Amino acid sequence: MRPEIRVVADAAELSRIGAAEFEQAALSAVQARGRFTVSLSGGSTPRGLYSQLARQGSKLPWDKMYFFWGDERHVSPDDKDSNYRMVRETLLSQAPIPPDHVFRMHAENTDAARVAEEYEHTLQQFFGLKAGELPRFDLVLLGLGPDGHTASLFPGSAALQERSRLVTANWVAKFGHYRLTLTAPVLNNAAEVMFLVSGEEKTAALQSVLYSDAPAEQFPAKLVAPRDGRLLWLVDRAALPAGPPISKGA
Ligand code: 6PG
Repeated sequence: MRPEIRVVADAAELSRIGAAEFEQAALSAVQARGRFTVSLSGGSTPRGLYSQLARQGSKLPWDKMYFFWGDERHVSPDDKDSNYRMVRETLLSQAPIPPDHVFRMHAENTDAARVAEEYEHTLQQFFGLKAGELPRFDLVLLGLGPDGHTASLFPGSAALQERSRLVTANWVAKFGHYRLTLTAPVLNNAAEVMFLVSGEEKTAALQSVLYSDAPAEQFPAKLVAPRDGRLLWLVDRAALPAGPPISKGA
């Protein structure tokens, strides 16, 4: 399925429209399958969307929604860099979400590989997977780094090659830290992936990911192409490449 690219005015509209898309995905999934499973993105862009969801909360079937993370920093849940902490502050503490519907990565464990194994087991148990089967999230939220990374799939990192594990501990040389991340096969098994991209610092990466033939090794967000699902890029004007998109052949 071809990616949909939807341009919005600014970060505030990105949050509003992102929340509306999130709500639509949740209501559709609950109607069709009785539950909604979502993999949340970290970083800063989605903060506004999570806060918007909490504000408009009454329309959402919170007791039928299940929250996972696409990636996590290798820190404790109270660390300022924790993606779990960011979501707890903006959404989990602001909405009637049953605590046992929240599945965070236990990244306080100093053994990053163990954290990945444990989260993979959590996914297998929740989704009732046999060995080799992939979870199918109703929605995966992703961001885009200025270097073209998404989740914690960073350029040149080992996780880009991972095709059998669901979750992996990915050594990110530029940080000198491990990151925990869902792998590309999991992202690409989703029913819907929504990228949220805001700000001029993302323009070059967006151009390379969407409009160039640069290799995915260099711009890992290029790996995301749901096999049987919707791919929506929600982009604000500041992040749009200035000139006309470079055609694929350029
Ligand atoms: C993380 C995210 C990461 C993020 C991008 C964009 O853990 O940081 O999962 O993939 O989405 O780095 O981050 P911003 O939204 O902060 O620009």
